[in-house]
Amino acid sequence: MSVIFQTLVNTGKRHLYRKLLNSSRIPCKCLYARKCTDVPKKFLSFDEVVAQRRAEARQSIVVQVNSVASFNELYGYCSKYATVNQIHHYKNSAGEHFMLIEFSSEDNMKEVLKSCGTHHKDLDVMPLKSPFLWFRATVGKKDSFPTPSVSLASIDGGSPVEDEKLLLDMSKCSTVSDQIQLLYDKTSLNDLGTRLRYMVARQIECVFDSLYSNIAVRPFGSSVNGFGKMGCDLDLVLTNVLTDELCSPGRRLVFQDKKVEGGRSPWQRHLESVGELLELRVAGAGRVARILHARVPILKFAHDFTDLDCDLCYNNMSGVYMSEMLWQFGALDPRVRPLTFAVRRWAKSVGLTNPHPGRWITNFSLTLMVLFFLQQKTADGCILPALKDLVKRAEKEDIRIAEENLNCTFLRDLNKLPSDCYSQNNAKLETLLLQFFEFYAQFDFQDKAISINEGVPVRKPNALPLYIVNPLEQALNVSRNVSFEECERLKLEVRNAAWQLEGFDGNKEDDWGLLGLIEHKSTKGLKKLLRVGNSHRLVSVKDLFDNSNEPATDTLKSKLQRLTPKSDKEVNKSVKEMQDMLTNGKDKNRIKFKNSQVENQVHRIQRDKIV
Ligand code: GTP
Ligand code: MG
Repeated sequence: MSVIFQTLVNTGKRHLYRKLLNSSRIPCKCLYARKCTDVPKKFLSFDEVVAQRRAEARQSIVVQVNSVASFNELYGYCSKYATVNQIHHYKNSAGEHFMLIEFSSEDNMKEVLKSCGTHHKDLDVMPLKSPFLWFRATVGKKDSFPTPSVSLASIDGGSPVEDEKLLLDMSKCSTVSDQIQLLYDKTSLNDLGTRLRYMVARQIECVFDSLYSNIAVRPFGSSVNGFGKMGCDLDLVLTNVLTDELCSPGRRLVFQDKKVEGGRSPWQRHLESVGELLELRVAGAGRVARILHARVPILKFAHDFTDLDCDLCYNNMSGVYMSEMLWQFGALDPRVRPLTFAVRRWAKSVGLTNPHPGRWITNFSLTLMVLFFLQQKTADGCILPALKDLVKRAEKEDIRIAEENLNCTFLRDLNKLPSDCYSQNNAKLETLLLQFFEFYAQFDFQDKAISINEGVPVRKPNALPLYIVNPLEQALNVSRNVSFEECERLKLEVRNAAWQLEGFDGNKEDDWGLLGLIEHKSTKGLKKLLRVGNSHRLVSVKDLFDNSNEPATDTLKSKLQRLTPKSDKEVNKSVKEMQDMLTNGKDKNRIKFKNSQVENQVHRIQRDKIV
């Protein structure tokens, strides 16, 4: 989600704001909901955006259809019951087609739900009222519907951009700053991605509604904090919403409730039963794993209709407030999110981050490192304020106390933040990226901790290799898991990256600018290996592994010889290098390449024992 500006402010960054407004990630209604007589607001709050997204989900359904061609029929059918606002099409990884339909109101959507049927006479299948549906084919004569007055808002709108295409587009950019912006524009979570995440939350809310009064299921983490990329996991929190009104002594009739007895934490028991319900009652949810003894117990599950990997926890409001805080920092200046995307992508490429938990740095810690860097004062001032400045300016309506009495109070309305507290320099993204690496290449990791609360390095309270103060629980270190070796690698890689960017002289050959930082090393090796002589032409991997019109006995060596004008010695060397790569890869199951097609082809060779 991006920051939403109601009016353009009169600053030098006007073009950037306009760019954001035009972005498809902006839910337009937020912009039009205000009347022109309202006092102009530069920033919407996180709560306003979340409320808008939750409202959208409450008036939407997701329907499995035969193909994109079902649009006319589905639109015509649904229009019989309610007014359709917009329809998005997407496919999941199983190739199944879905349409997300937003109606003009929640009541409209309910009318459609009332019209739903069930599809099994089998008594073992118990249907469930939820916003995830499927569109049954007509029996007999087909209804004819007029051509819809609207067209699809997106077609195949959930697919992430192909790496190959992204890297090609980046190679055509004019500047490194453009490359960074492009990476952000093309890979950040789009409007449909965000809508689907709120739909999954809504579906779970509907299922649990009858078991828990006033329940809310909210996305948090990268799905909502503005730093999410297409395909990122979905973190969900199940909370019991206790408003002042509900707890008011004036309400004399009160629900009888049930205290959980026994030694174990009630949250663990609730989550256990929620796990059962996910397996039994939530259509699309499967592969449920229970991790109940962690500090924050969670249920992991896969949601097949939306292709999302989900983590559900109970009552972890500090996670939501943490997301809000990150969202706010991202909203303050349009360079924050693109820069963070570039850093995260670089960290992934050099292997500093890993999708599995372990001794390496996480995306969350990296994001805090970027924010901390942007809080550093330059001659012109800083780009982001310290968190303590937001805490100092907090008012009564900003008070938030999370579980275990955790104080998560900070200024929520960024319009109240004086403009000289942020965006105080006009450095380009390209400059900021280089400065980020230089800053951490010189950072005293030995004695200093990173604290976005203070905005300046603080003394490390212990000898852990990397210390990043948890902004909402300052006694904790969010990077306590990072090993000495991983911290050393981080230091080495930031120095390498700084050196690589400093050396960029504007020559746009090969992997220039950001491309040089984010391409997988293994792919670079393969590309180098396949380069023909000095002509810089690449032999297509497809050609190399294409078996058509070739004798079955054709080896990798003879193919290389045929496709490249290399000497026998050179070819032998290339084959040996490639064999080494493949053999080494065997131990790690599979070699990683930036392009899944290349990866599959190399894997197939391994499997078929061509080499
Ligand atoms: P990706 O999932 O990697 O895209 O990023 P993410 O920000 O969603 O990270 P993750 O799923 O690991 O965590 C979800 C959220 O939990 C984060 O955004 C934070 O709000 C919070 N979180 C993550 N790690 C920590 C931690 O070490 N301490 C605390 N208190 N909160 C954390
Ligand atoms: Mg996450």
